[in-house]
Amino acid sequence: MTASRAKFGAAAQKEFKGKLPLPVPRRMGPNALKYVQEVVDSGLTSDMPDRFERWFAQRMGVKHCIGTPGCTAALSVLAAALRFAPGDEVVFSSITDYGTVLGFVRENLIPVFADTAPGSVNVDARTIEAALTDRTRAIVVVHKTGLMCDMDPIVALAKKRGITLIEDACQATFSKYKGRLAGSIGDAAAFSFDSEKTVGADMGGCIITNNDALAESARLMGHSRAGEMRANFGRIHVAPGYPYRMPMCTAAITLAQLEVADENVAKRDRMIRVLYKKFAEIPGITPLAIPSYQDVYSCWMAGFNIDPKQFKISVDDFAKQVEEAGIAGAGTGRYYLMPAALPFLTKAAREQTYPYSEPPASRRIDYTGDTCLNAQAFLETFIRFSTFNDQYTEDHCQIAADIVRSVADRNRK
Ligand SMILES: Cc1ncc(COP(=O)(O)O)c(C=O)c1O
Repeated sequence: MTASRAKFGAAAQKEFKGKLPLPVPRRMGPNALKYVQEVVDSGLTSDMPDRFERWFAQRMGVKHCIGTPGCTAALSVLAAALRFAPGDEVVFSSITDYGTVLGFVRENLIPVFADTAPGSVNVDARTIEAALTDRTRAIVVVHKTGLMCDMDPIVALAKKRGITLIEDACQATFSKYKGRLAGSIGDAAAFSFDSEKTVGADMGGCIITNNDALAESARLMGHSRAGEMRANFGRIHVAPGYPYRMPMCTAAITLAQLEVADENVAKRDRMIRVLYKKFAEIPGITPLAIPSYQDVYSCWMAGFNIDPKQFKISVDDFAKQVEEAGIAGAGTGRYYLMPAALPFLTKAAREQTYPYSEPPASRRIDYTGDTCLNAQAFLETFIRFSTFNDQYTEDHCQIAADIVRSVADRNRK
């Protein structure tokens, strides 16, 4: 039997139906066509990617923004730009998307997954500290669903240990932690403007940083395929760099979408709080907790845990019934448990093939869900839907809550 291939972006949401507004087709910023027209009229000499980079860096309050074709690409470029040695370890949130990890694996670095904090979708300083070793060079935290990790203790830990701190702000564009924007807190951050994300453009993304040397390294490794010019010869490639520049038309659409993002994020923030309040009133349902330090929750994905002891059906059947009743895309999220979702890494680590051989690795690593028990337990009862979007009104929140309540009530023990 051939396994079915995963779908991404708008294609992943195209078949969705239900009683609630859907994120795709996207509503486009009013200037989208004008900016694309500028690119076309320029005969592809437009400075649109630079304009996007300047706009985003200024908005984020950072020195550098480096446009890429996506967040997977942004993190791959960062992984290459950091120039760590094969076998060095990078600590990641255990609940995330494969795009967080891929680029680091390609650099022959060893991902180490930190457990999430008990009952949370995110890591914290304590769970990260437990995953650090002498070989750890970087920490990549993920602000999952747009909920921010508690950054102050994580920044303090990274500083104390002299480790680079990267934020995967892919799901959290314009979320705020104690007044600070997601992505502006660590040493560098990566964003996604994928069509289904909060600022949905196409397959766009970027890196931001205040570190001049890292920005220069990222441009060399990510935009120039590490190509340098030599007199009397021409271009040489000083490392295996990428051609991951942000395309002009993607920059045009991203810019237009960013111009309307504040309004959209404010709606997401308002409505997710309304929705979660309603979910919390349903016995056996616990919505994701919004920490008090989070001033703006730019929610990309909504979700709740169920108490399986209170219901006579499985979590999967609960999710299925919620979807059938009208919340498109409702499902479990077990596949986000990274140590259980990458069988090729499990195999390499078990067989100790490069870079898991010693050296360059300095210890044995195992990838199974059992290495991150909090994350595993959390995802066993978690139901999420990434169709939550900025068109939700209070009435829609009521419809969504009524759906969950009716599924809960008819399946109570
Ligand atoms: C947390 C996280 N990081 C990275 C990525 C990869 O982003 P992109 O699709 O822009 O490559 C995703 C995509 O969903 C994600 O959710």
